[in-house]
Amino acid sequence: MKCNIKRIGILTGGGDCPGLNAVIRAIVKTAAGYKISVAGVIDGFGGLIHNRIKELTEKDVIGILPRGGTILGTTNRDDPFHYPVIKDGKKIYEDVSYKVKENLVKNKIQALIVIGGDGSLKIAKEFYEQGVPIIGVPKTIDNDLSATDQTFGFDTALTTATEALDKLHTTAESHHRVMILEVMGRYAGWIALQSGLAGGADVILIPEIPFQIDKVIEKVNERREQGKKFSIIVVAEGAKPLGGQMVVQKHIEDSPDPIRLGGIGNIVGIEVEKGTNMETRVTVLGHLQRGGSPTAFDRILATRYGNKAVHLVANGRFGEMVCLRTPEIKSVSLADAVGELRQVPPNGDMVLTAEQIGISLGR
Ligand code: F6P
Repeated sequence: MKCNIKRIGILTGGGDCPGLNAVIRAIVKTAAGYKISVAGVIDGFGGLIHNRIKELTEKDVIGILPRGGTILGTTNRDDPFHYPVIKDGKKIYEDVSYKVKENLVKNKIQALIVIGGDGSLKIAKEFYEQGVPIIGVPKTIDNDLSATDQTFGFDTALTTATEALDKLHTTAESHHRVMILEVMGRYAGWIALQSGLAGGADVILIPEIPFQIDKVIEKVNERREQGKKFSIIVVAEGAKPLGGQMVVQKHIEDSPDPIRLGGIGNIVGIEVEKGTNMETRVTVLGHLQRGGSPTAFDRILATRYGNKAVHLVANGRFGEMVCLRTPEIKSVSLADAVGELRQVPPNGDMVLTAEQIGISLGR
């Protein structure tokens, strides 16, 4: 295979997720077929600001396919267009994107593949609009990017959440308790909805459908009256009561989206215990969902994305992001790919299926 590009860079940005290493491996291996050398950027866009680069050869990617995380490191800060610097003891924000461009030239990087979620892909789009040849690869456990049927990392997070529900089931049943599992997903309820379906939850609360706590309590009480002495509730971190707000756990300064959600599980737990008189316990699954070995599905999707990204580079299709249009891997423009959140349709097939098999969505 031939192309004009002789050297590319790879960067992983934003929160990590299982499958990043599988993309890196596929990029390096596919690039070798084109005789393209690969520069790995350390710790996201920060690595390009501070010129932290390491060479990636086929030897460097041996054994990384099943490994979680990213061998390149990542960060959810370091936006080069809005970069914090201390001047006269005060924090101010500067545009240091010129440093990124300088370091790309210094390292002879002719094209850059950015593997990231919404935040990193927005930065990638901005660089592309300023003339940097860029290809995007969508990642996030939240599965909330509208331009692709699925992001890699989601299936692994979903599997982790489902396994947690299986485990909670056995202890819930033994103790006749209500068990609540709070899962991630930010403003989208995909992890909650799908793990709830796969793990046999009785109640699923998602951001897209503000819940009524009375309906949740009613469901648990109804089950008890039927002789079902335990209940399982999955709560997305972004779920909120009707007329209420999402629960913000903390603010992370300098992050493209500074809000970190968390805590709604405990609030639901207190109300359910009060309303049912049943002992209730809350588990927050947290970053376990982001760690560990990717599932077979995510390894394959990540490998296909990495492979396609290099073909896009070789064909000069810059400003595009690889995507899954089942069953094919395609590409869309970065402009179309970022910005639009993919949320659960409140009356879509998956929600209706859940309700029709007796799962309460709290409405
Ligand atoms: O976007 C991925 C995600 O894991 C969300 O589901 C979660 O809300 C957030 O990132 C957590 O971010 P952090 O790793 O900064 O705590």
